[in-house]
Amino acid sequence: VSIQTDEDFRPSFHFSPKEHWMNDPNGMFYLNGTYHLFFQYYPDGNKWGPMHWGHATSKDMITWEEQEIALFPDEKGYIFSGSAVVDHDNTSGFGDGTTPPVIAMFTYHDPKGADEGRIDYQSQAIAYSLDEGKTWTKYEANPVIANPELQDFRDPKMIWDEENRQWIMVLSARDRAYFYTSANLKDWKKVSEFGKNYAAQNGVWECPDFFPMKVENSHETKWVLIQSTNPGGYNGGSATQYFVGDWDGKNFTPEADLYGKNIDHPYWLDFGKDNYAGVTWSNVPKEDGRTLFMGWMSNWLYAQEVPSETWRSAMTIARKLQLKKENNKYIITSTPVKELEKYVGEIITKWKLTDDDHAIIDKKELDLTKAQVSFLIPKITKDVHLTLSNESGDQFKFGFKKKENEFYIDRSKSGITDFGKEFASTVSTGRRISTSDSLKVNLILDNMSIEIFYDDGKTVMTEIFFPKQPYTSLKINEGVPVIDIEANEFNFN
Ligand code: FRU
Repeated sequence: VSIQTDEDFRPSFHFSPKEHWMNDPNGMFYLNGTYHLFFQYYPDGNKWGPMHWGHATSKDMITWEEQEIALFPDEKGYIFSGSAVVDHDNTSGFGDGTTPPVIAMFTYHDPKGADEGRIDYQSQAIAYSLDEGKTWTKYEANPVIANPELQDFRDPKMIWDEENRQWIMVLSARDRAYFYTSANLKDWKKVSEFGKNYAAQNGVWECPDFFPMKVENSHETKWVLIQSTNPGGYNGGSATQYFVGDWDGKNFTPEADLYGKNIDHPYWLDFGKDNYAGVTWSNVPKEDGRTLFMGWMSNWLYAQEVPSETWRSAMTIARKLQLKKENNKYIITSTPVKELEKYVGEIITKWKLTDDDHAIIDKKELDLTKAQVSFLIPKITKDVHLTLSNESGDQFKFGFKKKENEFYIDRSKSGITDFGKEFASTVSTGRRISTSDSLKVNLILDNMSIEIFYDDGKTVMTEIFFPKQPYTSLKINEGVPVIDIEANEFNFN
């Protein structure tokens, strides 16, 4: 048998570019039935290079259509990460009275400045679209925010602050977030900083996001700051943490005592190695009300070396974020968007038992390359070990260690792993938030990825893999009871 190739690894329901290099999701907005996704893109190679904004659209955040490149680098620099908003009231004045203008803000990264050893080579700029995101015009007076003599000054994320009737923008400034406000999306005023001495500080802060969320089952609203860091994630590489607090129109104040100056806190959106730089969609209709999130399903530790050479990287499944309050702590849960259910195929509700009593799902029942498997372990009396495997002997292992109260993933023997030593290492994380005796598990599998949602999304672990052959069996260890099984193969045409 021959080893899987690039196209075998390609996900069927996660976005990946037809060819070449992709990193962060950018400028995500919703308008007139269409979800837009832009992304850091290098159309001339399979590693990071002069950045463009690629573009894709979808009606449901699951099936994506790649579009023409939206923004090209120019003499001011590469087009780094940023965001987009729909300017319904034409506060920017860019509108022509037909459709509302869509305004994107991105970071210009001037490679000459970087080469010359200057530190002021990143600034913020805007572009507008008068055809719902198809084509873009860069503002002639760019940049709108000059560099304040600061290295690592990037990734602006904008939102309309309804209560204070103003636009807000947050960007990453090395080891903290800067907050700005504006009336017209062109003139921006810095109003505050947050983050020095908070939480993970062993890398550079990148790709922030800032938005209000209703606390589930209450009338309370809190503001959430999402903050990616690279390196310095709790697993060493790229990862995304969050802060919950209050916003008074100028300052963000986190909940007291929630975060110390360390990375060993439970406020990470994902504890696997492959969910980075994720942000939320803007302009999601009020009637919908969801906070919709998507991340880049890779890690700077090895992203440029993964074995798919013609295309590199996919996005996570779109997720609904919810804010919950438990034991006086605010936590964010993530679950796959309900739009995925539309593709659910025939549901199987039983796992086979092998001779030695291992529960097992195999290829004859379910194609594990595009599947969802959920179940409940009603009472945890021992360690739980789950294994995805194939005929080549590759094994992707994950589960829960009872004594340590920890989830783990071990992909050291998952297939092709020799492209980066950091890829093969094992990760683990405490089940710090739920203390329940039972364990609910929901798995989303798509050719090169697994997204594990434990406890209704209280602990999430996302990882990619490159098995020599597709995984054909999913097994749980002997003596671990499994009930409420719902497994299905997705239908995509
Ligand atoms: C995060 C990041 C951003 C930057 C972009 C460049 O992965 O480093 O901070 O804008 O990638 O491609």
